[in-house]
Formats: sequence, structure tokens, C-alpha cells
Amino acid sequence: MPIRFDILTTFPEMFATEPPGALALSIPDRARRAGLVEWHATNIRDFTTDKHQKTDDRPFGGGPGMVMSCQPVWDAVCAVEAMDDRPATRVLLTPQGVPLTQPLVEELATMPRLLLLAGHYEGIDERVIRKLDPMEVSIGDFVLSGGELAAIVLMDAVIRLLPGALGDGESAGQDSFSPIGPGGQRLLDCPHYTRPRVWEGEEVPEILLSGDHGRIAAWRLEQSLQRTRERRPDLLAGPPDQPPPA
Ligand code: ADE
Repeated sequence: MPIRFDILTTFPEMFATEPPGALALSIPDRARRAGLVEWHATNIRDFTTDKHQKTDDRPFGGGPGMVMSCQPVWDAVCAVEAMDDRPATRVLLTPQGVPLTQPLVEELATMPRLLLLAGHYEGIDERVIRKLDPMEVSIGDFVLSGGELAAIVLMDAVIRLLPGALGDGESAGQDSFSPIGPGGQRLLDCPHYTRPRVWEGEEVPEILLSGDHGRIAAWRLEQSLQRTRERRPDLLAGPPDQPPPA
């Protein structure tokens, strides 16, 4: 059974397969064609009840921006969830959510069905968020114009982990944030090289030409550790999958 994503959005075109949107290329497209994943984007606007099809309104208390209204969001979620027997794990993409990390991506990749709610404007009325009680997820400490790009990022990260999504010679087990450290720490990836052996006077590290797979593996691990120490010491600070101590 393919994992099913339902995306609730006011921009369903962003998830199109024809003409191709961001997910209809490369690994996610191959996974979809192979029947490992299906996704359905639903327009929240289709669930509005007023003649102008308004999904948002001015915020109580004043201030800039608009707030997505409860009713169309709630009705859209109810209608979409009824389209399939499998229970959906509800995820709201928001800068106020828990950070999307590789351990969380791995957890999401085990779910049969994910319902992704992509908000726009200043946000969504808090009452419908509380009633839906979704997992709230952020893709980083910056603000996007809407949750759609965050949903696409989450979907891409999940899809590539589905068994069979990566082709021969591709492996998620060696990626950055894989638990390859000596204590199971999640490390950054090592540097990679391909032909030519010399480019602009720069040589490929000698060891990679040695054919000694044991020494090459040890060198790559050392490079990963060094990079992680330099660039992301926070990854080495705590036990695997745990935040570093406060
Ligand atoms: N919507 C707007 N910004 C976002 C972010 N950083 N992560 C998830 N959803 C968002």
C-alpha cells in the first residue's frame, strides 16, 4: 500500500504532476510511478460557504495580515479524511512548529497517511488548530510565504526514505544526518569527488584512488566527524536523536 499524502492548500497547483510541479521530477516522481506514494492536493477554497469564496478574514484585535477562517479549514479536513479508511496523521506546517529533523522524517515515513495543512496569510485561527490538534512542524527559523514549500520539503524528505525509492547505487544510509558516528551520532556527509583526477590543478585525495575499501571507509568517517565538529558541533553534543543538554 503506498503512503498517502493529502495536502490542504489554497494553491493545489504547486503539487501538480501534469504539468510537473516540484515533486513530479526526480526521486519523488519515480517513487510515485512505482506506486510507493500517492498524493492528493485539495483546495481549501472549495469548502468556503460564502459567494466570494473567502478563506480568510481580518484579525480580531487588529494588526496587519489576514487570518485563515475556521470553517473552510475544518470542513476541508473532515471531507478529505473521509476519502480514505486509513487514519491520517495531521501535520500543520508553521514556523512555530517543532523543527523538521531526520529522526522526525524517519518517523513520518512509517505512517500510512499524512494530512499536511499548509497555512497562508498571517496564520490560521487558533481555535481550529486546537480542534484539529495536529503535529506542528517547521522547516527552519525563517518565514515562508506559506506552508506549501514546507510541505514539499517534508514530502521529498519522507519519500526518498520509502523502501525502493532510491535506485541501485543510491543510499539514504550514507546521507548527512545518518547515524554513522562511532556512538551512533548523526554526522554530516563526507566530501565527494569524481573524474577528472586533477581539475584546475586540484587533485582528488590520494586515498580515494587506493582501492583499499577499509581505509577509504575510515577516511570518510574521519572527514564526516571533522566536518561535523567544525560546522555542526551541536550534532555531537547529545546522545543520538536527543537534543543536546540545556
Ligand atoms: N510556513 C511559513 N514558514 C514556515 C516554516 N519555516 N516552516 C514551516 N511552515 C512555514
